[in-house]
Amino acid sequence: MAEKSVALGYRGVRIRMFVYEKKLQYPVKITNPNPKYAKIIITQYGGPDGELGASLRYLSQRFAMPYPELKGLLTDIGTEELGHLEMIGTIVYQLTRNLSIDEIKKAGFEDYFVDHTTGIYPQAASGTPWSAAGMQSKGDVITDLSENLAAEQKARTTYDNILRLVDDPDVREPIKFLREREVVHFQRFGEGLRLATDRLDSRNYYMCNPAFDKNCGK
Ligand SMILES: [Fe+2]
Repeated sequence: MAEKSVALGYRGVRIRMFVYEKKLQYPVKITNPNPKYAKIIITQYGGPDGELGASLRYLSQRFAMPYPELKGLLTDIGTEELGHLEMIGTIVYQLTRNLSIDEIKKAGFEDYFVDHTTGIYPQAASGTPWSAAGMQSKGDVITDLSENLAAEQKARTTYDNILRLVDDPDVREPIKFLREREVVHFQRFGEGLRLATDRLDSRNYYMCNPAFDKNCGK
């Protein structure tokens, strides 16, 4: 997974960057390929409630977030979601490696195969390619945090549905780990929303946006 770091750049200027750690957040070791499972699980790579949308949503929202703790929260969770994207890509890859054409046809994997062979492409289970139109960065503290709470629950529901459809423990264990992290993120965004509303006038906090309106909450 990736994590944020600070390094010295040209002429000693401090720059923000990501460093890459060559290790998954949770191990993925799948013995039996299964393209049917891959077609379902790809939705958490590029589907409407998947990890790509989650990471880009949080890592985009953080720029306008006025409170340092919440900016840090968005950076932490957005970075972790990139690690989850990597796990999902690894699961789909391991489920589709070394397939024969007969296995591809038998599993009904031809529609994905014809466009992407066995490469990893950000799409929903329906085949719809990933689009930023499915996520939001609104620049309003309460709006963005409320969207994130809903997004975490939608991701949790998707993982629950995957667990209803998948029997292989090699696949279920990393999916269960990812499901658990969505619950933790929901809780952390809940704390973040409380922190934001505590700073605003409790009688009218929907009437101003601390990311934009001067003196909001003061
Ligand atoms: Fe999450």
